[in-house]
Amino acid sequence: MAENSVTWKSRWIFVLAATGSAVGLGNIWKFPYITGEYGGGAFVLVYLACILAIGIPVMVAEVLLGRSGRSDPIHSVLKAAKRSGHAQAWSIIGAAGVISGLMIMMFYSVVAGWVIDYFFQSVTGSYAGLEADTISGGFGELYGDHDRQFLWHCLFCLLTAGIVASGVQKGIGNAVEVLMPLLFVMMLIMLGYSIAEGDFKAALHFMFTPDFSKLTGDAVLEAMGHSFFTLSLGMGAIMAYGAYMPGNASIGKTVLTVALFDTLLALIAGLVIFPLVFANNMEPAQSVGLIFKTLPITFSQMPYGMLFASIFFALVAIAALSSSISLLEPGVAWLERNGLERGAATWLLTGVAWAGGILCLNISEIFNFLDNLTTKYSLPIGGLLIAVFVGWVLPATQVSENFEVRRGPLYTSWLWCVRIVAPAGIVLVIINQLGWI
Ligand code: PHE
Repeated sequence: MAENSVTWKSRWIFVLAATGSAVGLGNIWKFPYITGEYGGGAFVLVYLACILAIGIPVMVAEVLLGRSGRSDPIHSVLKAAKRSGHAQAWSIIGAAGVISGLMIMMFYSVVAGWVIDYFFQSVTGSYAGLEADTISGGFGELYGDHDRQFLWHCLFCLLTAGIVASGVQKGIGNAVEVLMPLLFVMMLIMLGYSIAEGDFKAALHFMFTPDFSKLTGDAVLEAMGHSFFTLSLGMGAIMAYGAYMPGNASIGKTVLTVALFDTLLALIAGLVIFPLVFANNMEPAQSVGLIFKTLPITFSQMPYGMLFASIFFALVAIAALSSSISLLEPGVAWLERNGLERGAATWLLTGVAWAGGILCLNISEIFNFLDNLTTKYSLPIGGLLIAVFVGWVLPATQVSENFEVRRGPLYTSWLWCVRIVAPAGIVLVIINQLGWI
């Protein structure tokens, strides 16, 4: 059983890989755009609460299942269920996750394609020195140009498949180690620029002064769903990576580190973008185009802007890549375990996602449908099943043997979150939105 003996050398490498999965377009593209769309402060507050009370506990549960099963998500759940004498039907968690991953990949690769387009626009300096309106209008042109989007979408799918086919550890471990910290530094530099040149006060007010009158049921659902999306939860990505985590590493500490990085990066992205939005008298609600309409304006005015822009978009593309590989990994690992060759499994699943992506870039309704379906429903429901399985179905001893500290306030609060807070929260938010209560 080769996969049993392959564990990532140290806890740190797991942290980097999981951070690579978590940090991506969700932080830099999606968080700012939905925060703008749903009115700021109150939405951000609900998102942070969900990360703390639902996301982090579910992430611990996923890592625990992956590490104790040491297999792909479907088999890891199956093993845990069998060992405790429960129905094998629980492996539906893994199977549904494979499908969620594919559905996310379909629109994710389209957005990653936009990032690659902006990378080339920056390298060639095509928007340097243009008027702000012209630059922000440039996104509309790209959005309407399906051939151009198709090209980048294909390229992104090829890159993802190339890495997944050669094995996630080999393909990504080293790259992530250098590039993630670099992305962080780059974001801090841009933050400095936004503080100096943008309307930072207005941004702080927008992001951190909650106005609960703007908080609809839909906003709460989106905030909760995004806490899953941004931490890569509810579909088995973190479980698949957990399978490679060394047995002696502390799950709690590791998960907190990943969640902290991820949340910081999203908040910084918001604090980079909104000062520019307000300084340029733009509306925060710019839908999917927000970062592409604002950041290039700034780069065009910054000293060495095109150089910064090129580095920035390259790093975001790489962050997207280190996330997209984890969207495919659960399915590929599962097919491989069922006897398919890794290469064939990768191309098969990438092919499905690629075809769905073509629909997304041609028909925006399909893009939005998949974005909504996964973020608002399939990831939270996947998370709900994981929480119930770990919190209620598995015997307490089978769960607690994974932790060094089996009592104490941290362990107890985790257990309560996984048993009560997360499941009740997820169910209430969803049925509220469906209008059943
Ligand atoms: N967390 C990734 C991001 O924020 C997206 C993702 C979701 C990756 C689910 C894997 C699983 O961009």
